[in-house]
Amino acid sequence: MKKILLEESEMPTQWYNVMPDIPNGIAPPLDPLTKEPMGPEKLAHIFPMGLLEQEMSDQRWIDIPQEVQEVLHIWRPAPLIRADNLEKALGTKAKIYFKYEGVSPSGSHKTNSAVAQAYYNKREGVKRMSTETGAGQWGSALAFAAHKFGLECKVYMVRVSFDQKPYRKSMMNTYGAEIVASPSNDTAIGRQIRKEYPDTAGSLGIAISEAIEDAMGREDTKYGLGSVLNHVILHQSIIGLEAKKQLEKIGEYPDVVIGCCGGGSNAAGIMSPFITDYLEGKKIRFVGVEPASCPTLTRGTYAYDFGDVAKQTPLLYMYTLGHDFIPPGIHAGGLRYHGMSPILSAMVREKILEPISVHQLECFEAGRLFAQTEGIIPAPETCHAIRAAIIEASQDLNDPKTILFNFSGHGMLDLSSYDKFYAGDLHNYDYPEEDITNAIKNLPKV
Ligand SMILES: Cc1ncc(COP(=O)(O)O)c(C=O)c1O
Repeated sequence: MKKILLEESEMPTQWYNVMPDIPNGIAPPLDPLTKEPMGPEKLAHIFPMGLLEQEMSDQRWIDIPQEVQEVLHIWRPAPLIRADNLEKALGTKAKIYFKYEGVSPSGSHKTNSAVAQAYYNKREGVKRMSTETGAGQWGSALAFAAHKFGLECKVYMVRVSFDQKPYRKSMMNTYGAEIVASPSNDTAIGRQIRKEYPDTAGSLGIAISEAIEDAMGREDTKYGLGSVLNHVILHQSIIGLEAKKQLEKIGEYPDVVIGCCGGGSNAAGIMSPFITDYLEGKKIRFVGVEPASCPTLTRGTYAYDFGDVAKQTPLLYMYTLGHDFIPPGIHAGGLRYHGMSPILSAMVREKILEPISVHQLECFEAGRLFAQTEGIIPAPETCHAIRAAIIEASQDLNDPKTILFNFSGHGMLDLSSYDKFYAGDLHNYDYPEEDITNAIKNLPKV
């Protein structure tokens, strides 16, 4: 069977919270000033309580509000598709399945959390949300969701993407959001960085600082983050829950589950519902794929660090390349964040998740092969997961293993990156050892 579909009535009505199941738990966020563990009340000026409760929850199952389910029904349940044409092209006996998250209105998994976040903000009387976006996927997801719940939305878009992806801007405009290139003149931190580095391409760490400053400066505004945090991963668990049901329908179970890792949300989202099985002794592997140019999990340090450049966020215990990391502009993908979700970081610490890094040229090559065999053009981030699936399927061509990967988003608004790849303008880049050593020196002392 090519496509395994679920009825609308079969969409999960509860999210699965993996936090209570992570062996040895997750270290709490710390107050950036006092370095003491931080309770929800301290974060209440930037996030609504509904999301903060989820952030700290030890409940395994949390109901998806009816209003959120109704919006998710626009595209969910998302299809699970067998990449049998890719299998043939590789000459492998492995079965490759992908969960196709590109069907969402904004084109990626990010919409799953955007809808939930907009809902909880609306419920608590918030009028406006501020956020950052790297490649534009999260910004367009939140722009859509905010509009659905009647909220205004302001997006700080990393300069390099702002210049390279005009149609992401058109999309956010269509949903009624306001967009500025980050660093911008609209915030104090933005103005300061522009003065110091007039030609900067920006970074997610800078854009996060601007969006938080925006939210802290206005009574009517709260901030939304598209990855990293526990509540985002909770919302993304719907991906794995659906995929598990779909595989059950055809009597399959994955030997390996793969996700690309930026801040960790799509990978943790598809993996988390399978983790309980793993902990109960089921044989299953988890592979997280990151770019060699931003090797957070494979070469970063496991420590408390800030989530942004301006050091406004709580300290999170995670793998990090240092909060002052500015990624090389040559990389096309959106996986360029210095940190990683504490949940995924703890999964690496516990040796549940195997992290690997891959170079971007092999990823675009994998994306092209996927498009030519399966028809769908993947986002550059997704190409990393495809590359890993190809590596898994090619290790032993006679091994009939079952591979499941998360197809996190389509690449229809990333075609300029493909053009650069074809023109030979993209290069591989290994993050220098020296920068890793230097970044460790600037980690906050806890
Ligand atoms: C299509 C797509 N996949 C993956 C990612 C990585 O984010 P995360 O690790 O939170 O899933 C992004 C981030 O922008 C994205 O747009």
